Amino acid sequence: MGKLEEGGMKPRLVMAALMPRDVVERARDEFDAVVATGPADMTMPEVIEAASAHRADAIQFVNTLPLSAEAIAQLPETVRVGATSSVGYDHIDVAAAKVRGLVVTNTPGVLSDCTADFAFMMLLAAARRAYEYDAIMRAGWRYRIGQGDVLGVRVSGKTLGLLGMGGIGGAMARRARGFDMRVLYHARNRLPPERENGAEYFADFRAMLPHCNFLSLHAPATPATERIINAETLALLPRGAVLVNVARGALVDEDALYDALSSGALFGAGLDVFRNEPDFDARFAALPNVILSPHIGSGSVETRNAMGFRALDNIAAVLAGRGPIDPLWR
Ligand code: 8YV
Repeated sequence: MGKLEEGGMKPRLVMAALMPRDVVERARDEFDAVVATGPADMTMPEVIEAASAHRADAIQFVNTLPLSAEAIAQLPETVRVGATSSVGYDHIDVAAAKVRGLVVTNTPGVLSDCTADFAFMMLLAAARRAYEYDAIMRAGWRYRIGQGDVLGVRVSGKTLGLLGMGGIGGAMARRARGFDMRVLYHARNRLPPERENGAEYFADFRAMLPHCNFLSLHAPATPATERIINAETLALLPRGAVLVNVARGALVDEDALYDALSSGALFGAGLDVFRNEPDFDARFAALPNVILSPHIGSGSVETRNAMGFRALDNIAAVLAGRGPIDPLWR
């Protein structure tokens, strides 16, 4: 690992998040590592304390650690790189990191497929009422369900709208094609036609909405996407549409979403992310037409390992002077 290892010294790392066992093992092999032991991920004061005491060269973390300008200013000078095990980086003050000369990396690509698998599961579950059927069974069933009772809505052949067409949005589009769906998308920029694979671009997000039986969110949380799903945009969807959000809670006005779900304007929703995590708006848990999960879209063994390894690869590359593999800026 370049200069740092020539003298027999391993680079010093603070692993602030509770990571999968294989990732922790690799961190301990390749780094002189202080590792979060729980019960929760380290808080920012804990990270600052550990990084100072350990004279850390690097920190590895996830989106539970808000790397604000104030936090960045308090990190010891020894810390040269911060690697988040996530594709999203709305928890990081990029401008402050740049000013401080802290290299920051994320983990795009490695989680696209598993997150899209999860989003499609939420879409199917919301449309076909998986949560309600499971609840009926767990309550003992033993009564007659008529041919017209507790019906879902068809998925195959319908129209899916995507907000965002990056790695995860593109993977979602590929899955939708397997269900013979028409795929529409809105993103800041249109993809080159050879990468659209038949998906139809809408430069105007609002103009896309009336066509969407399903709307799935795959855009980052930015000032431009803050509460982009609100009373006005929800009203543009056809009655009985289904919303899937595995992106960020900040994209949604949760009061408006609650109203649309409880009034029946939306047929259902699959929600993996919330404005306040983990203290999510518990009103959603009382709605039978919502399937809920605790921000775990990328959570497969393979993908969480790949994300953790990618974060360590980034740290190793930076500390060896090779430059980051996945820099947040160039
Ligand atoms: C989680 C994510 O942040 O990659 C992202 O942006 O939201 C998720 O993958 C990550 O797993 C850490 O919790």
